[in-house]
Amino acid sequence: MQTSQIDLVDFGAEHLEAAVNLSRQAGWPHRPEDWQMALAVSSGVVAVEDESRVVGTALVTSYGKDCATINMVIVDEAMRGRGLGRKLMDAALVIAGNRQLRLVATSDGLPLYQKLGFREIDSVLQHQGHVPIVAAPNDVEPALEADFDTIAALDRAAFGADRHDLLDYIGKVGRFAVIRRAGQVHGFAALRAFGRGEVIGPVVAANSDDARTLISFFMASRPGAFLRVDTTADTGISPWLAAHGLAHVGGGVAMRTASVEAATLSEPKTFALANQALG
Ligand SMILES: CC(C)(COP(=O)(O)OP(=O)(O)OC[C@H]1O[C@@H](n2cnc3c(N)ncnc32)[C@H](O)[C@@H]1OP(=O)(O)O)[C@@H](O)C(=O)NCCC(=O)NCCS
Repeated sequence: MQTSQIDLVDFGAEHLEAAVNLSRQAGWPHRPEDWQMALAVSSGVVAVEDESRVVGTALVTSYGKDCATINMVIVDEAMRGRGLGRKLMDAALVIAGNRQLRLVATSDGLPLYQKLGFREIDSVLQHQGHVPIVAAPNDVEPALEADFDTIAALDRAAFGADRHDLLDYIGKVGRFAVIRRAGQVHGFAALRAFGRGEVIGPVVAANSDDARTLISFFMASRPGAFLRVDTTADTGISPWLAAHGLAHVGGGVAMRTASVEAATLSEPKTFALANQALG
């Protein structure tokens, strides 16, 4: 039997179409625009078979010099179990350098990440559904351009790293809302098109009441729309999401390399992820 040659090359725009096909094959909802966004804020690697066919992908999204997420790790179904996932991860680890690493693992990816020294931090809970009629809350409003620095600062405090570029991109393709009290921004949420519909996230707030209020604001603005929210078990808002039309449909395991501490108890807190890939 003739063996094929597999090369790892830098992930470029020319690989996007094949990447979309791979994520569809894996049952993921990413549209070309979602891959485009991921690539715009990331560096990555693709595995190419016989110089033509893309059979694997991995992206590294760096948040400043200290932190990165590894995401979109996919190997073509027909090529799994032959060490390709491991090779893609090794290449991703080189791109990430000595940054602290985070990812959300599927059950397929979990054994690989455990072997590479990632440890489990929390459960990620994926909620989605068609939005029922929801009353609009009073103290949330669309963000002003002048709020961006405060939004970025709140996100940095909650996430533990600077996600300026990501938030900038989200601002271009979506919109932000803020809780403003006595002129001060106390939390924010973002809404953008993603996958089968739209996603609410990130959501950063001082407490779960404020997080629910922010989510309600976007739900109230999109009756009947297909909305998704990726939260973590420790936020405690999962039952509320399920009771408000966004069913729990799956999720993953939030993992980090050993050098990163688990989320602190300090305020503000991340109540919903930008998505599972970007954290
Ligand atoms: C996850 C995925 C990328 C792995 O790709 P792959 O090419 O099959 O992975 P590899 O063959 O390199 O195997 C990776 C390691 O995990 C181990 N492994 C795989 N399944 C395992 C299992 N069920 N139990 C224990 N170890 C397992 C392998 O032995 C290997 O370890 P080694 O490098 O020490 O030999 C692939 O299954 C995939 O694309 N799944 C769908 C998309 C997905 O879920 N991606 C993960 C996103 S977080």
